[in-house]
Amino acid sequence: HYYALILAGGGGTRLWPMSRKASPKQMLPLIEDDTLFQASVRRLAPLFSPEQIYIVTGQDYVEALRAQTPEIPKENFIVEPSARDNAAAAGLAITVIQKRDPKATIAMLTSDHHIAKKDHFRDVLTAARHVAGNDYIVTLGISPTYPSTGFGYIEQGEKLGNQVGFAYHKAERFTEKPDPVRATQFVASGRYSWNSGMFIWKASTAMREFERQQPAMFALFHDLQSTVDTSQFDSKLKEVWENLTKISIDFAIMEGAEKMAVIPVDIGWSDVGTWDALYDVIPQDRFGNCTHGASPKEHVVLDTRNTLVFSDRMTVTIGIEDIVLIDTEDAILICHKDRAQDVKQVVQYLKDNG
Ligand code: GDD
Ligand code: MG
Repeated sequence: HYYALILAGGGGTRLWPMSRKASPKQMLPLIEDDTLFQASVRRLAPLFSPEQIYIVTGQDYVEALRAQTPEIPKENFIVEPSARDNAAAAGLAITVIQKRDPKATIAMLTSDHHIAKKDHFRDVLTAARHVAGNDYIVTLGISPTYPSTGFGYIEQGEKLGNQVGFAYHKAERFTEKPDPVRATQFVASGRYSWNSGMFIWKASTAMREFERQQPAMFALFHDLQSTVDTSQFDSKLKEVWENLTKISIDFAIMEGAEKMAVIPVDIGWSDVGTWDALYDVIPQDRFGNCTHGASPKEHVVLDTRNTLVFSDRMTVTIGIEDIVLIDTEDAILICHKDRAQDVKQVVQYLKDNG
């Protein structure tokens, strides 16, 4: 009765110009030969069989994702009629899984992160399943390294116990994307961890929280559930979908969650959110350079240090340091590594100016 549910509908614009609306971050082979999505699926074996893995994503992405993971049964891909953020996506998928297996426990996972310690990660998911069995919403806490405003923060309370070698604690408070002042206080206090974006809970726990905190959404899911795996499902889904609130699961459910636990983990996690974060997780040569592309051996990096090059063309750099150089068919990014987070502003600028 244990399932993995991978949320794979996000846009991921901070890795512009490689990550685009048509081919977002999770669909790109940024770190290994596998795309981030394929890696997110494949690191689940052997804990989850392909039949136990569900994907929820948008119309525009589903064909590409199916092609990337032919091992996953077709009926395990759940398709959103349009993008309404991930609370709607999660609720829809849990509605389907719960109908097929009312006793389901669900590990809700992201599609666009890097996890270096894969065996260890599966052990964590085993521990989390046991904790979730006691009606907890289980979160995986990452030790914060700087006061990021792009993550959720979990305040760690008293220790509740151990499961298969992992300590788990009460989560006192969940705060999604705090402002810089609070983020700094949280990190300084030493009592907070970053939310990894993964949640392990029983389907019944999830639905109870929707019912308590998002009753309008719950009513729609409840309505939809009776049609799962019948010929009425598609039309019912279209009917309810546009009425679901556009909100993330973090604000919809996690900030107000009643019974939450946190397992502090050391799984080599990175959200690979920016080019400098990606640089940190891919192998570098002895000068700190990473060069990628169709034929990376053709790249020449002379007197170059700590530089990241992605290009399908032969690329030459001379006498540069701490640079990100991303060459795609229709756009080139050349950026100091310290400014990688500002790519977000450029993407906004391009959106606003057509
Ligand atoms: N199916 C579907 N549909 N998936 C979606 C949608 C949607 O409309 N929107 C987002 N997702 C997926 C993304 O692909 C990703 O796997 C996951 O949901 C989280 O969404 P993000 O947009 O990446 O959220 P975030 O990075 O701003 O914040 C979340 O992750 C952080 C860790 O990286 C939060 O959970 C934070 O609390 C957390 O710290
Ligand atoms: Mg994210």
